[in-house]
Amino acid sequence: MLPWGLVFLWLVARERITSLNEAGCSTKKLLWTYSPGKEEEFVLFCDFPEPRRNHFSHKSPHSPTPSPGSLPCSGSEDLTDVQWYRQRGDQGPVEEIAGGHLHMAQNKNTLRFSAPEMTEAGTYICKPRIRTLYSSRSAQDGACCAKIVLEVRPQTAAPCSTSAPHKQYLILGTVGSIHCPRLSCQGDAHRPEVTWYQNGRVLSEEKSNSILLDDIYDYHQGMYVCDYALSSNSSSWTARAVVQVRTIVADTKFKPDIVYPIKEILEVELGKPLTLHCTVRFGFQRDFNPVIRWYIKDTDWEWELPIFQEKSIKSTLEEEVIEYAVLLKEVTQSDLGRKFVCFAQNSIGNTTQTIRLKEKQGVVFLYILLGTALTLVGVLVVGVLVYTYWIEILLLCRTYKSKDETLRDKKEFDAFVSYAKWSSLGIEDPSPLSEEHLALSLFPECMQKTL
Ligand SMILES: *[C@@H]1O[C@H](CO)[C@@H](O)[C@H](O)[C@H]1NC(C)=O
Ligand SMILES: *[C@@H]1O[C@H](CO)[C@@H](O)[C@H](O)[C@H]1NC(C)=O
Repeated sequence: MLPWGLVFLWLVARERITSLNEAGCSTKKLLWTYSPGKEEEFVLFCDFPEPRRNHFSHKSPHSPTPSPGSLPCSGSEDLTDVQWYRQRGDQGPVEEIAGGHLHMAQNKNTLRFSAPEMTEAGTYICKPRIRTLYSSRSAQDGACCAKIVLEVRPQTAAPCSTSAPHKQYLILGTVGSIHCPRLSCQGDAHRPEVTWYQNGRVLSEEKSNSILLDDIYDYHQGMYVCDYALSSNSSSWTARAVVQVRTIVADTKFKPDIVYPIKEILEVELGKPLTLHCTVRFGFQRDFNPVIRWYIKDTDWEWELPIFQEKSIKSTLEEEVIEYAVLLKEVTQSDLGRKFVCFAQNSIGNTTQTIRLKEKQGVVFLYILLGTALTLVGVLVVGVLVYTYWIEILLLCRTYKSKDETLRDKKEFDAFVSYAKWSSLGIEDPSPLSEEHLALSLFPECMQKTL
């Protein structure tokens, strides 16, 4: 089944190719002169002649003046959905251009070439994919199409030094101009009229070889195309050049800024891996060539650490913030004595930030130590208190429990003291204690101590 399906498809495709009647197409001869070895782009627009009746009411952005003699489109064609065909040489077959080309891409009605190659020369034909008004009238089918004969030539003579580049920059908020490359070389005397396009739209008021801008806004950014007539070998061509215009801010006058690290000491854990981050802010520069490095400074030598990761944190018109990281597999004791330096540089100058590593005490260990110490101190304080106020504590307990058994035990004393004097037995008193001393000073003292 599959081979037959393919044959059928091939027959259909063949039919579509051979049915392309290009005789009535408007024809344009385009010349692409490129400088070998340079990045240059080129575009083909699918320009249809406009119908005369609609000429004033409907202005298509992609249509230059209709070429006389060709039959017009209806004006209701879908100009954003076109099919491009290519014919190599004069007699070669006409092929549909599909996707998947290396240097060629289609966007709406524009065929874009990203790099110049001689093999890109040939005849290009485009027509809308869907015909709305004339679809049934095959006789007019050739009318709504455009044929472009593209000639690709390398620049043979050395381009003049004033030739404008294919990438041009405009500084926002200032005065500036966009120049047509190569045309800027020619003297004022024979400057042809130029047709300018911005993003595929004709800038009908611009006819000179450069566009002057009083005040530059970001909408001036885009792809510009300049077309001008050129006659060589008695045939007339349209020379075309593409200029990519970027609106930018003025170049910075400052060195880069190290946003992180700010602190000079970084607490680390020994034996663990460590990622060192350095975040740097660079001001805008047209030729942006940022350098970020981490290196280690020991007492007598220094070496750079290999990059682990680099990423853009922020990228705006004015600034670029880049984070650069290196990885230490394991923090060693000798790392603690070293200096770690983040170095950032742009064309204005360099900035550095030095940090040192400090060992971090384990947090859990610290808590355990603190807890144990506090408990010990607490136990000690309680012990001392109990030892000092033992009686008071006992009495307090008794009062608290209100169980004084002496209240209802029908006894008159709490204590009975009997004192026997040795002398009454006829033996000489050996102690210096007299009865008086015992009763008046020793007893009360004892009682006080006991209570
Ligand atoms: C002009 O034609 C001659 C031969 O007819 C050819 O050698 C030459 O390259 C042509 N020059 C240009 C600029 O096309
Ligand atoms: C960094 O800048 C200083 C001047 O500020 C210069 O002396 C030094 O050579 C620069 N370092 C590097 C590595 O370019």
